[in-house]
Amino acid sequence: MRLQKYLASCGIASRRKCEAYILEGKVTVNGEVIRTLGTQVEEGDEVCFCGNKLTLKEEYVYYMLNKPVGYVTTVQDEKQRQTVLDLIHDEMHRVFPVGRLDYNTSGLLLLTNDGNLTYELTHPKHHVNKCYEVKVKGSLSEAAKYALRTGIVLEGKKTYPAELKVIKQSEKSTVFHLTIHEGRNRQVRRMCEAVDYPVLSLKRISVGKLTLGQLEVGAYRSLTPKEVNYLKKMNHNNH
Ligand code: URA
Repeated sequence: MRLQKYLASCGIASRRKCEAYILEGKVTVNGEVIRTLGTQVEEGDEVCFCGNKLTLKEEYVYYMLNKPVGYVTTVQDEKQRQTVLDLIHDEMHRVFPVGRLDYNTSGLLLLTNDGNLTYELTHPKHHVNKCYEVKVKGSLSEAAKYALRTGIVLEGKKTYPAELKVIKQSEKSTVFHLTIHEGRNRQVRRMCEAVDYPVLSLKRISVGKLTLGQLEVGAYRSLTPKEVNYLKKMNHNNH
């Protein structure tokens, strides 16, 4: 973050006024007077104004990313694969993914530094609806559709009823939307495997009422205040 923005974010003054303070030599970064506008400040830097140490107000940010395939959603990967955090250019906030998507799954992933919201949204008792666009090999039989809708036993426990809507079906492949309410590990892939339809591609298109819309693959955007409120309320209602 640029130094004048940092000062303004700490509540010192307007950004323009903060620029004047920098030029006047009133600001130090890590003990050194900085008079250059636009100097970059990073997390962990000690910034002082007139000798007083500043702290940036803990500000929550909420992002929606259209995750590409080929990225892990863990913060670090032992195989040195790319992580979704490589796609987020925000050096001032340490965000983390809300839940997970497989390496080969694309689509809607929320990221935030709001630990409470993450905890609530990923708690198994909350059953947030998640809709996936699934492409499987072959023409999906009626029996398989029925099984996917009514529930499939995975590790001795039946999945909750799911909504299934066929989008496109041919001899070669079937594309459908599947809405599930749980978040069991590799759930959609395992459900499809269980009915003998291997997944060719998997993309999450919505979480609750939040949808990917026109967000490009690899791009991210901030949630609107309305969307953030919706997520917070959703938790509340589920308690
Ligand atoms: N279900 C899966 O199988 N994989 C995902 O990434 C998400 C849901």
